[in-house]
Amino acid sequence: RKRVAVLISGRGSNMMALVEAARQPDFPGEIVAVLADKPEAAGLAFAAEAGIEGRAFPRRDYGSKAEHEAAFVAAIEAARADIVCLAGFMRLLSADFVERYRGRLINIHPSLLPKFPGLDTHGRAIAAGESEHGCTVHFVTAEMDAGPAIAQARVPVLPGDTPDSLAARVLKEEHRLYPQALATVLRGEARFESA
Ligand code: GAR
Repeated sequence: RKRVAVLISGRGSNMMALVEAARQPDFPGEIVAVLADKPEAAGLAFAAEAGIEGRAFPRRDYGSKAEHEAAFVAAIEAARADIVCLAGFMRLLSADFVERYRGRLINIHPSLLPKFPGLDTHGRAIAAGESEHGCTVHFVTAEMDAGPAIAQARVPVLPGDTPDSLAARVLKEEHRLYPQALATVLRGEARFESA
């Protein structure tokens, strides 16, 4: 089975969805490390309970962005991870990092990309009067939320939706979509193609 590292910054619910999916015997990968940029990330505690090695690398412990990223690279290599999943990892990775893991680095984003890259996607989808919203799993490129899509899931935007109610509807789909999209990458069914 392929080895997967997951990078998180907070709650870690998508990471846990990956952990749970990978517990199924037919899943083509296992989660071997959970790495965070925040020691207080709630996901680290969940990972520990699930028996998965978690480590935090706070930005303030490193002099430069390059040194900070080098700590993640060292941990990913130490875990012998084949694939790196970003799951609510709220830090823009350098072109160097992205290039190193090209085709092996994927992210989940809570919008139907290319719509609404960046933050507050749910509030922006409501404000724009969208009738549909959703989430995207994509290969990561140096440009934020812009790499080739692997899979998308759609939900309706309902009258009276708030950013929170819409976020909850999307999150349910994220938890379903991310494991499924990761499995296609692990099986070699989704590949990064340069333009
Ligand atoms: C998720 O909704 C994820 O799509 C989003 O942050 C949330 C993390 O939740 N990611 C981004 O906005 C990345 N640009 P989680 O920590 O419970 O998985």
